[in-house]
Amino acid sequence: MRHAALCLLLLVAACGGKKDNGGGEGGTGAVSGSADTAREQQRFDSERKPEKVVEALGIKPGSRVADIGAGTGLLTVHLARAVAPNGTVVATDIDGAVLELLQSRLAAQGLADVVERRVVGAETPGLEAGAYDAILLAEVDHYFSDEVAWLKDATEALKPGGRIVISNRIHHRPRSMEAARKAGLVLQSESTPVPTHFIAVFTAPPAPSPGKK
Ligand SMILES: C[S@@+](CC[C@H](N)C(=O)[O-])C[C@H]1O[C@@H](n2cnc3c(N)ncnc32)[C@H](O)[C@@H]1O
Repeated sequence: MRHAALCLLLLVAACGGKKDNGGGEGGTGAVSGSADTAREQQRFDSERKPEKVVEALGIKPGSRVADIGAGTGLLTVHLARAVAPNGTVVATDIDGAVLELLQSRLAAQGLADVVERRVVGAETPGLEAGAYDAILLAEVDHYFSDEVAWLKDATEALKPGGRIVISNRIHHRPRSMEAARKAGLVLQSESTPVPTHFIAVFTAPPAPSPGKK
């Protein structure tokens, strides 16, 4: 039990839950008292501008969106507000413990019903085929051991015209863009709404024309 608690603390710290800047490499801090939680969210929002991520995803009420590596849900709350009341955010993570913290954060905002939590394996998106308007990878793709294979799998989960949005720290950009290119994704737009992070919007590769071998 003590070992599990220690692991969770280490994970939250590794995810960027530093009290001094609230952002770190991931910006997902621990969910503690409600005043602390509100301050943490405020700091995260000013550092990451999540409204720009929501805009890039092109989601609206009723959309179905996946938040990959959602962590404790600092971004997920914004996605949930955008798709509520009749849409869904599927929040995935390899760590079930952080998804418990995410659930508390979403419940405190009255958004628990909008979010489905899903613990996934490290090598697979864990998403059903043809079901998503958008898939968000925020500060997570650098963890994948085979990013190209992961992205190819993820394109199967998109609805026609759906988007994959990758946002990460600037120093991860070359690797992210190269993996997306190798996976055949088509870059639609790119922005840098804060100096630390890029947001790149992709669509699936065009379907091969009939009869083409
Ligand atoms: C740096 S945090 C990012 C949290 C949030 N997306 C954000 O941008 O603030 C990275 C999260 O990705 C999760 N993660 C790492 N590898 C993963 C994988 N292969 N699939 C899904 N989640 C993963 C970690 O457990 C952690 O919660």
